[in-house]
Amino acid sequence: MKLMVTAGPTREPVDPVRFVSNRSSGKMGYAVAAAAQLRGHDVLLVSGPVAIKAPGGVELIMVETADQMQRAVMAGFNKVDALVMAAAVADWRPAVVHVQKQKKSSTSLTLPLEPVPDILAQLAGIKGSRLVVGFAAETENLLSEAQRKLSAKRLDMIVANDVTAPDAGFEVDTNRVVLVWPDGSSRELPCMPKTDVAEYIIDWLEENLPASAT
Ligand code: C5P
Repeated sequence: MKLMVTAGPTREPVDPVRFVSNRSSGKMGYAVAAAAQLRGHDVLLVSGPVAIKAPGGVELIMVETADQMQRAVMAGFNKVDALVMAAAVADWRPAVVHVQKQKKSSTSLTLPLEPVPDILAQLAGIKGSRLVVGFAAETENLLSEAQRKLSAKRLDMIVANDVTAPDAGFEVDTNRVVLVWPDGSSRELPCMPKTDVAEYIIDWLEENLPASAT
């Protein structure tokens, strides 16, 4: 199959030297890209800024902002059979980006933020037979939030993880996830290396892709 994977955080500029971002390390998305490549699939990896090395043999597009990630995903989407959206795309960004570095002052600073358009939600209407997998990193109500996002973004599967657990979520090498499907079924996986979670995701894609795409 041809698979697009997104990974890492996005950076939303405040001014030329500052940005708003999150704790995503990119490890989960990079593990999915590596697992798919090792199984002989064609992989396009769209990555935000991360400190890890891209797996060999994948096509890599580096981006910084959510806008750039959206453009890269839209440009690649019609060429792939499946998308795994593991990137922690910003939910808000500074409403105004200052051209000059903002000066330090003794008064407090308020930073107005505006919502970032949801990339997955925009793909819902054009996905056709492609399989689209999202992630839900939650700190409360894990399953209900994952179900809500699964249906709002019209996903085929969502990988939910409670990011409050010390051995799961951002930055660490292991993850503790629940796979959730649109029919309401779910499968809780024990804590395992992100590389093993990636194998489960690729297994599911291989089993559920239309025969023409395998
Ligand atoms: O931020 P949220 O919890 O809604 O993210 C869930 C899923 O939606 C993730 O797969 C993430 O990559 C995706 N997302 C997106 N565009 C955004 C925010 C999140 O596609 N602007």
